[in-house]
Amino acid sequence: MERTLVLLKPDAIQRGHIGEILGRFEAKGLKVVGMKFRQFPLEHIQQHYEVHRERPFFDSLVAFMTSAPVLALALEGKDAVAVTRRLMGPTNCAEAPPGTIRGDLGLSFSHNLVHGSDALETARTELALFFDADELFDWTPVAENWVYDVEEELSPAS
Ligand code: RTP
Ligand code: MG
Repeated sequence: MERTLVLLKPDAIQRGHIGEILGRFEAKGLKVVGMKFRQFPLEHIQQHYEVHRERPFFDSLVAFMTSAPVLALALEGKDAVAVTRRLMGPTNCAEAPPGTIRGDLGLSFSHNLVHGSDALETARTELALFFDADELFDWTPVAENWVYDVEEELSPAS
């Protein structure tokens, strides 16, 4: 099982797409283990996008991400990092394929609705930035053994 960080960006909030986007992750079978709705301070978002600090779009990215509240989600599932990125689609919404969140809901490169951690190590760092340990919850969905073949797919060896 993996955990990953997803952010519903200010454009998703402003456009009323919380339910639509959250619903896609839930429908896929990913488990919500943390959720936080907040307009995050500048320094917090700067730290989150630290890897892009030297890029020309850094300041506008940070301004955009602090312009309205963001919904931070911690999602858990088998291969959750890669599965989440596939559901989101590529960065540029205009080129993202239909069926993906960005492909179905957007037209922009910068206002692209969602963030998802790009690797397991990144996910660990990003989850720690957005959530304290006691804000993440271990729970077992009643339908888990209908989403997965639990013995085949969720055993430590698989
Ligand atoms: P994210 O980190 O938000 O999940 O997006 P991503 O992995 O698909 O894209 P990344 O390369 O990490 O870029 C982070 C965000 O910065 C904005 N961006 N603008 N104007 C530009 O050239 C440009 N490049 C990136 C996008 O909002 C992108 O999601
Ligand atoms: Mg990224």
